[in-house]
Amino acid sequence: MPVWARVRGWLDERFGWNELTAPLRKKTVPIHRHSYWYYLGGITLFLFLVQVFTGMLLLLYYRPTASEAFESVQYIMTQVRFGWLVRSIHSWAANLMILTAFAHMFSVLFLRGYQKPRELTWVSGMVLLFLAMGFGFSGYLLPWNTLAFFATKVGTDIAGQVPFAGKWLLVFLRGGEDVTGATLTRFFGFHVALLPGITTLLLALHLALVQRLGISVPPGQRAERESLPRERREMRFFPNFLLRELMAWYVALGVLGALAALAPWELGTKADPFASAPAGIRPEWYFMFMFQTLKLIPARVWLIDGELLGVLAFGAAGLLWLLLPFFARDQWRWTRQGVTGAGIFALAYIAGTTLYGYVAK
Ligand code: HEM
Repeated sequence: MPVWARVRGWLDERFGWNELTAPLRKKTVPIHRHSYWYYLGGITLFLFLVQVFTGMLLLLYYRPTASEAFESVQYIMTQVRFGWLVRSIHSWAANLMILTAFAHMFSVLFLRGYQKPRELTWVSGMVLLFLAMGFGFSGYLLPWNTLAFFATKVGTDIAGQVPFAGKWLLVFLRGGEDVTGATLTRFFGFHVALLPGITTLLLALHLALVQRLGISVPPGQRAERESLPRERREMRFFPNFLLRELMAWYVALGVLGALAALAPWELGTKADPFASAPAGIRPEWYFMFMFQTLKLIPARVWLIDGELLGVLAFGAAGLLWLLLPFFARDQWRWTRQGVTGAGIFALAYIAGTTLYGYVAK
């Protein structure tokens, strides 16, 4: 008897392996014209796993204090064997993960994957996207370099504009009135304990929902598939889809490795809290659309402070996006075109203002 069959027999006897894995063997994934978009969620998951692994390696040498953080990252990059590569992979994977999470969100939007009964999958996904941005924001400060220091000052200043809770939020994020070593230690806590904990729980919920509800078929593709035989309408998850997914992970690993090795992540100069802010301070690219919008709004719009208005508008837009499945139901005709229109507008707005932010400086 082959070794695997014997192992399976043993596992089945002890733990009921066949019964445990039955859902996996029965699980199928729909096939249609746009089904390749289904790989994006999995690629985001892969990049998250890379983050966890490389983050743990960085933790072996990183020190979260204002006097040692910069030097410890410098040490990782110059003295630790392959330390530069691990740090570069961690930084590139963070950026790619946010990119693929955005792409996954938009693909789910255009393919109507958020609709009943998948409302909670969408909501958990949106919270995961916010958390991913939180990972980026908190991680950016950790090397304690000039750019990150001042970008964190600007970013937390903006958080301070939130009506009512702004002041409290600013002090909570900074661990005091100013960006200091206390902010660094706090951001470190967010980055390696709080955010990973919440993200793991939400990810488990997100994936359990996907598993429980199966993957959706876009409404536009349903009629077309009706006449097809079963084997052309769906493929088995195990091993057919899983092997394709692993190929997508392999490609993602290739892109990630090439970027990390050919364009190693820079460190810059150590932050000096007493120096004046250098020119061209800007946030990470995924915050640029908000940052640039706030820059473009006049100081006062009627009687309201311009920045406050911007913060309120983004807050409202984020909340509406989060709750989209509850008010954009397909049985209402206006929502069918409305959601696609809103998706195209959001994509164009984010791309346009981001590009403008880099060109205008
Ligand atoms: C860390 C971030 C995320 C990870 C790791 C993740 C992972 C996944 C995976 C593996 C799937 C199944 C395959 C697929 O449909 O692509 C999936 C499906 C789904 N995700 Fe995500 N996701 C994330 C973020 C998001 C975001 C930002 C949204 C949208 C707001 C979202 C909404 C959904 C929905 C609605 C489905 C079901 C799609 C369908 O049935 O057609 N996810 N996710």
